[in-house]
Amino acid sequence: MKIIIINGPNLNLLGKREPEIYGSQTFEEYFVSLQAEFPNVELVYFQSNIEGEIISKLQETGFTFDGIILNAAAYTHTSVGIGDAVKSITTPVIEVHISNTFSRESFRHQSYISPNAKGIIIGFGLKSYKLAIQAFL
Ligand code: DQA
Repeated sequence: MKIIIINGPNLNLLGKREPEIYGSQTFEEYFVSLQAEFPNVELVYFQSNIEGEIISKLQETGFTFDGIILNAAAYTHTSVGIGDAVKSITTPVIEVHISNTFSRESFRHQSYISPNAKGIIIGFGLKSYKLAIQAFL
């Protein structure tokens, strides 16, 4: 089973970005523990602050990987292009958010990913990614 985690803008700052919302662990640290927890799953990690790079990565992996875990971060709420890419590929996508976007500002309640996601996991901190892997399994 081959799964890619795709993280969008500003998620490279996890650990130092608004720790009261996103926690104090870096994603690189968390990724090591995640891979250790699922030794039989081949996990790949990709992060970009650039919308087009996220679209290209979805296209590149979206016909061969078994699963995509996508936290498009702020682009979730703005990007028709990423939403279209999710619709265009065959690999199932689980949309993930670290924070509970529905308990925050109203502009975070809208998602261009959700209509075409296989499922959505929101608000469980970094554990949201683990729950997504379990869902794929
Ligand atoms: C986020 C929620 C988004 O609203 C925000 O723009 C992010 C992170 C989350 O994981 O909680 O950058 O996707």
